[in-house]
Amino acid sequence: MQEQPEKKRFEFFNQEPEKNLKTIEAMAKEFEAILGKCDSQKATEDLFSDYLGKKGILNQAFQTVTQFHAETKALLGAKLNFEKQRLTDLLKSKQQSLQQELLDQELKKDWFDITLDGPFSKKGAIHPVTHIQYLLVDIFQGLGFEIMDGSEIETDYYNFEALNFPKHHPARDAQDTFYLENNLLLRTQTSNIQIRAMEKYPPPFQIAGPGKVFRAERIDAGHSSVFHQFEGMMVGKNISIAHMIFCLHSAMNGIFQRKVETRIRPGYFPFVEPGLELDIRCLICQGKGCNACKQVGWLELLGCGLTHPRVLELGGIDPEIYSGFAFGMGMDRMAMLKFGIHDIRLLATGNLNFAKQFIGLAG
Ligand code: DAH
Repeated sequence: MQEQPEKKRFEFFNQEPEKNLKTIEAMAKEFEAILGKCDSQKATEDLFSDYLGKKGILNQAFQTVTQFHAETKALLGAKLNFEKQRLTDLLKSKQQSLQQELLDQELKKDWFDITLDGPFSKKGAIHPVTHIQYLLVDIFQGLGFEIMDGSEIETDYYNFEALNFPKHHPARDAQDTFYLENNLLLRTQTSNIQIRAMEKYPPPFQIAGPGKVFRAERIDAGHSSVFHQFEGMMVGKNISIAHMIFCLHSAMNGIFQRKVETRIRPGYFPFVEPGLELDIRCLICQGKGCNACKQVGWLELLGCGLTHPRVLELGGIDPEIYSGFAFGMGMDRMAMLKFGIHDIRLLATGNLNFAKQFIGLAG
C-alpha cells in the first residue's frame, strides 16, 4: 500500500467553521515548523509544492471549502487566502535568506580584500629623469619661456650645419652619430630646437624644451647611447651673459631645491661665442673632492654661451640688431646628481628595486 502523504492529514468538517479555522491554523503552523527546518533551496521548493503548489494542501482545502455553504465558504476562503499569502511571503523570505547564506559562504571561500593592491596595480612613480624634466619645464615656463619640441630624426642641416658645424669639422667627432638612410640621422643634441625656433619666431623670443638624444657611445657608468637633454634659447636686443646666468642660476636652485654654488668657465661649442660651461659645487663632497667630482670639487653640468652670429644669420636673424644666449644640459646627469645615482645605466634597466626607491616622487 502506498504511504499516505502527510498533506492529507488535514480534515475539513462541513458546517463547523471554528473547527475548520483551527485546522487551517494547524496547517499553517506545521508549514512554519517545516519552513524553519528547511536548509536548502530544494527543501523550500518541496515545501512549496506540498502546501502551496497546484496539488498542495492549501489547494485541496480550497476545493473542500467550495462545497460548504456560502457563509462558511466565505469565512474559510478568506482565511485560506490570507494564510496562502502569508505563507508564500514567509517562504519567499526564507528562500532569499538561504540564497544570501549561500552567497556569504561562497564569498567566505573566495574572500579577498578589495582594498588591497592587485598584483599589477602598484602605485607608479615618476622616473627620476622625467622628474627633472618636469621641474625644468616648470622653472622655464615660470621665467616666460615657451616649451618647444624638436624631432628625434633630423637632417644634417638642423643637427650640425645650421649650428655652425661645417662638414668634416672636427667638432662633429665629439658627437658620434647614428646615421639613417636618406641623409637623415638621430639627433645628437637638442640644439636642433634652436634652429626650428629661429625659423618659427621673429625675435624677441625665448624657448626651451626637453628631448631624447642619441650617440654611438661606448656604454659605461657615465655614458649611454640614448640620453636626455634640455635646451634653451633667448634672442632679443641686448641679450647678454648676465641674462643667461640669471636663468641658469634659477634653474639650478629650482632643480636641487637649495642654493647651489656655480661657476662658469670657457668651453667650446661651434654655435656659441663665447662658449661656456657651467659647473656646480659638488653636492656629494661639498667641494672637498670625491670620486663623483674626480677630486676637483666641481661638477660639469651644462654647455652654454652667446649665440654665434653665423647661427643667428642662418636662422634668418640679423646679428647686428639682435643677440641671444643658448644652453643645453643633460637631464640624466642632473637626475644622477640629485638622487645620488652612480651609474647612468640604472636609469634604463627597468629594475623594479631601483625604480621603487622613487615612489612618491612628485611629477
Ligand atoms: N648641444 C651641446 C652638447 O650636446 C650642449 C650645448 C652647449 C647646448 C652650448 C647649447 C649651448 O645650447 O649653447 O654637447
